[in-house]
Amino acid sequence: MSRIAVIGTGYVGLTTGACFAHIGHDVVCADIDADKVARLQRGEIPILEPGLDELVLNAVADGKLSFVVGAAEAAKDCEFAYLCVPTPQDDDGSADLSYVETAARQIAPVLPTGAVVVNKSTVPVGSTFVVERAMNRPDVKVVSNPEFLREGSAVHDFLHPDRVVIGTEDRDTAVKVASLFLGLTAPVIVTDPASAETIKYAANSFLATKLSFVNAMATVCEAVGANINDVVLGMGTDPRIGEKFLKPGPGWGGSCFPKDTRAMVKIAEDAGYDFEMLRGVINANELQFDLVADKVEAMCGGDLAGVKVAVWGLTFKANTDDLRESPSLEVINRLIERRAEVLAYDPAIHADLDNVSVSDSAYTAVEGADIVVLLTEWDEFRWLDMAKVADLMTTPRIYDTRNVIDVPAARRAGFEICSLGRA
Ligand code: UDX
Repeated sequence: MSRIAVIGTGYVGLTTGACFAHIGHDVVCADIDADKVARLQRGEIPILEPGLDELVLNAVADGKLSFVVGAAEAAKDCEFAYLCVPTPQDDDGSADLSYVETAARQIAPVLPTGAVVVNKSTVPVGSTFVVERAMNRPDVKVVSNPEFLREGSAVHDFLHPDRVVIGTEDRDTAVKVASLFLGLTAPVIVTDPASAETIKYAANSFLATKLSFVNAMATVCEAVGANINDVVLGMGTDPRIGEKFLKPGPGWGGSCFPKDTRAMVKIAEDAGYDFEMLRGVINANELQFDLVADKVEAMCGGDLAGVKVAVWGLTFKANTDDLRESPSLEVINRLIERRAEVLAYDPAIHADLDNVSVSDSAYTAVEGADIVVLLTEWDEFRWLDMAKVADLMTTPRIYDTRNVIDVPAARRAGFEICSLGRA
C-alpha cells in the first residue's frame, strides 16, 4: 500500500482521497482553506456526494485518511502526490494554471526522492511539462491521470471506473501509478501525457456534442409531431450510438462541460485549428436556454411581464447541490429579463439566490403561480400530488423540460402540460 498526498479537497480531491484510503492506501489530504480542513477534521463533509461522508468517516476512524492545511505539509514522505486543485477559466477561455503551479512549487522541496506527482486537475495539453518546470525536480516524475467522475456518482465512478488513463513516457512510472488502482477492475490505458490530457477534453466535448444534438432533435420532434423519448430509444438501441447521455433537457451545464468545451475550442485555436463544430455545440446550448424561455412565454400567452413562474430545480442536475453553470439559472435569468416573477424550489438549495427567492417545498413554491417550469430531474418531482399542485396554482400549467412528469396523470389533475421534445 502506498502513501498518497492529495492536494485540494474539492469534489475531485476529496473523492480521490477518500476512495484511495478506502482501498487501503494511507492518504493525507491538503487544502489551503484552514476552515474547510477544520470542518473535515471534525467529520463535516462540505459537499453533497452520495456515499462520500461514510467513506471519509470510516477511513479517518481507521487511521487511513487525515486532513492538513497546506500542500507541503501533506506531501512530505509521500510516494505519490495527486494535484486536484481548480483550473478556473480565464476570460479568453483558456484554463488558469496558477493553482496547479503554486501547488507544484510548494510540494517540490519536500517530496522524497523518486516520488511521482500525478495531475488529476483538468489541464490543457502540455501542462505536465508546466508542472515539471514548476517543480524543477528531475528525480520526480510527473504523470497525467485525468478524472472521469460525475458529480452525484463520483464515489461509484472512482471505485468502478470505465478506464484508468495514465499519461507518461516512462513505463515504470506507469506501472507504479496503475498499481494504486489494484483491486479495482478497469482497463488501464497508458499513453503519452499530451494524449492523456487530450482524452479528458475529447470525452467531455463529445458528450456535450451528443447532448446538444439530442436537444436539437427535441426541437425538431416538437415541430414535426414526434416524441423525443421514443426517438432516443430507437437511436440508443444501436450499440454504435448507445443509450446513455441521450436525455434531452434545458441545456447542459455544471463545473466541467462549459469550461472544458470552451477550453477545447481555445486549445484548438491556439494550435491553428478553428473547431467550428464545437463552437456550434456551445452556441446550440445557449440557444437551448432561450428556447426554454420562449416556450414558457408562449404557454403564458406571449408576454411574461408580471407572470408568476414557479421553478422546480436549480442545480445543474439531480443529486448534487452544485449550482455552477446550471442551465436552470440561465433559464431563470432569461425569464427575469422578460419581467417574470420567479419563485424557485430545489431539494438541495435552502437559501435565497441573488435574484431568486427559494421556497422550502415544491408545494409552497407554486402557490398563486401561473406556470411551473421543471428544470432539474430530481426524483421528488415524480411523486408529487399533482392534484394538490393544481389546486395551489392560479392556472395549472406546467412545462417539463426533463420529461419527468407523467403526462396523462398531470392532465387528469387538470394541467395544461408541455414536455420538451414532445408535440
Ligand atoms: C461530467 C462528466 O460526465 C465527467 O466524466 C467529467 O469528469 C466531469 O464532467 P458532471 O459535470 O458531474 O460530469 O455532469 P454530467 O452528469 O456529465 O452532466 C452534465 C450535464 O449534462 C448536466 O447539466 C446534465 O443535466 C446534462 N445531461 C446529462 C443531460 O441533459 N442529459 C443526459 O442524458 C445527461
